[in-house]
Amino acid sequence: MKIVMVGSGYVGLVSGACFADFGHEVVCVDKVESKIAALKQGEIPIFEPGLSELVRSNSEAGRLSFTTDLAGPVARADAVFIAVGTPSRRGDGFADLSYVYAAAREIAQSLNGYTVIVTKSTVPVGTGDEVERIIRELRPDADFAVVSNPEFLREGAAIDDFKRPDRIVIGTDDLRAQALMADVYRPLYLNSAPILNTSRRTAELTKYAANAFLATKITFINEMADLCEQVGANVQDVARGMGLDNRIGSKFLHAGPGYGGSCFPKDTLALIKTAQDYGTPSRIVEAVVSVNDLRKRAMAKKVVAACGGSVRGKTIALLGLTFKPNTDDMRDAPSLSIVTALQDGGAIIRAFDPEGMEQAKAMLPSGVVYCNDAYECVDGAHAAVIVTEWNIFRALDFDRVKAAMAAPILVDLRNVYRAEQVRAKGFTYVDVGRGDMSAAKELAGGGEAA
Ligand SMILES: NC(=O)c1ccc[n+]([C@@H]2O[C@H](COP(=O)([O-])OP(=O)(O)OC[C@H]3O[C@@H](n4cnc5c(N)ncnc54)[C@H](O)[C@@H]3O)[C@@H](O)[C@H]2O)c1
Repeated sequence: MKIVMVGSGYVGLVSGACFADFGHEVVCVDKVESKIAALKQGEIPIFEPGLSELVRSNSEAGRLSFTTDLAGPVARADAVFIAVGTPSRRGDGFADLSYVYAAAREIAQSLNGYTVIVTKSTVPVGTGDEVERIIRELRPDADFAVVSNPEFLREGAAIDDFKRPDRIVIGTDDLRAQALMADVYRPLYLNSAPILNTSRRTAELTKYAANAFLATKITFINEMADLCEQVGANVQDVARGMGLDNRIGSKFLHAGPGYGGSCFPKDTLALIKTAQDYGTPSRIVEAVVSVNDLRKRAMAKKVVAACGGSVRGKTIALLGLTFKPNTDDMRDAPSLSIVTALQDGGAIIRAFDPEGMEQAKAMLPSGVVYCNDAYECVDGAHAAVIVTEWNIFRALDFDRVKAAMAAPILVDLRNVYRAEQVRAKGFTYVDVGRGDMSAAKELAGGGEAA
C-alpha cells in the first residue's frame, strides 16, 4: 500500500518506518526542512532505540523516503496519516489543533482517487468530524474517508510497541475505510494483535481515557508513597501487593517525581476541558492533574529537606533530566519544575543526562552547569538527585561519588537503590515512600509524627 505520514516526529517517524518494514511504500513528510534533510542523509533527529537501523534498512530497500512537499505523495496515496503535534493550547489547556487542521487543508488540495485520511495524532472528540468538514469544503469532489487511529506507543520502546501493540483501535463507520485500514495493519494481526473497530468519536475518546487512567494510576501510587513516608510503610511492597491482583495489574505503580512527558500532561488537560465543555466534568482527572503539578515542586522540597532545610549557595547535582529513560524528550519533564524550584531556593545546579542534554539546554532555565558524565556532575555537590532512572545510574561507584561530593547526600526520586546499600557507603539517603521513619524523623527535626 502507498502510505503518507504527515509529521515526522516521534510518532510519525516510528510509524512510518514500521509501516515500511511491513512492506508498505511510505513517504514521511515534515515542514521542518532541516529535519527532512537530516533524514535523507540517514541522520535521525530524535533518540529512539532501534530507529536508526530501521530507517536505514527501509530507506535502502526503497520503501521509505522523506520530503517536505506532500502534494505528489498524497495524490498517489491509499492512506494519509496525520501525525503532527497537538500540544496544549495556551490559556485553557485544550489541545491546539491548528497543526492538524493545517495538515488537513494541505492534504485536501492534493487528494486524487479514493483516499483514507487517518488521524494518528491524539485529538479531542469531534476532531475527525472537523477534519472531514474542512476537506469536504475545500474539495467537494474528493472521494475520501476520515478515520481515527490513535497511537499508543511509548517513547523508548516505540518500535516494539508499534510492532507488537496490545490493540489497534480503528474508528470509522465507513466499511470501505475499515477494509483499507485492515490491509494497512494486516501484517500485525497475523501476529494476532486485536483490532477494535469502533466509531470515530469512540476511538478519539479511547486514547484520552487510556492516558488519563494511566496518569491516575501513577498519581495514586505517588499519593500512597507520601502516606507510606508518614506511617512507616514501604510503597514498593504496597505496589507489589496491589499489582499482583490481576484486576489492578503491576504496571504504572512506581512511585516517583510525578508523570511528565509529551502526552500525559497535555492529554489529561485536554480531557478535562472536553469533559467540562460537554457538561460532565471529570473530577478524578482534575484531581490527578493538580496533585501531579504540586508533586513536581514537592520533589524539590524533598531535596531542600535532605540538605538540612536550605539549598542557598549549595550545589545540587541532577542525574537524569528527561521525563523517562531511553528518550531525549524533555517535554513537561519533572526536571523542569525541580530545577526552577531549586534555583528559586538559591541552589547552583549541575546536570547530566545521557541523551537529553541538547533538548534540556533549550528548555531549562539559564545558569545550569551541564556535565559530561555522572561523576563530573556530582563533583563538589552538596547533594545528588536521581531524577531519571537511566541504566547508567543504577550501578554508580559510590566510593568515587562520595570522594567527589562536598557532602554525601543522595536523593533517589526513582527508588533505584536499596537504602542499606547506600547508607553502608556513608551516605544520607532519601527515597520516595519506602517508609524509613528514622530518615523522615531526622529530616523533620527528630519529633514524633503527630
Ligand atoms: N510522543 C509520543 O510518545 C506519542 C505517543 C502517542 C501519541 N502521540 C501523539 O502523536 C502526535 C504527534 O506527537 P509527536 O510526539 O510525534 O510530536 P512531534 O512534535 O515529535 O512531531 C510532530 C511533527 O509534525 C511536524 N508538522 C507539524 N505540522 C506539519 C505539517 N502541516 N506538515 C508536515 N509536518 C508537520 C512537526 O514539524 C514535527 O516534526 C501528538 O498528537 C501526540 O499526542 C505521541
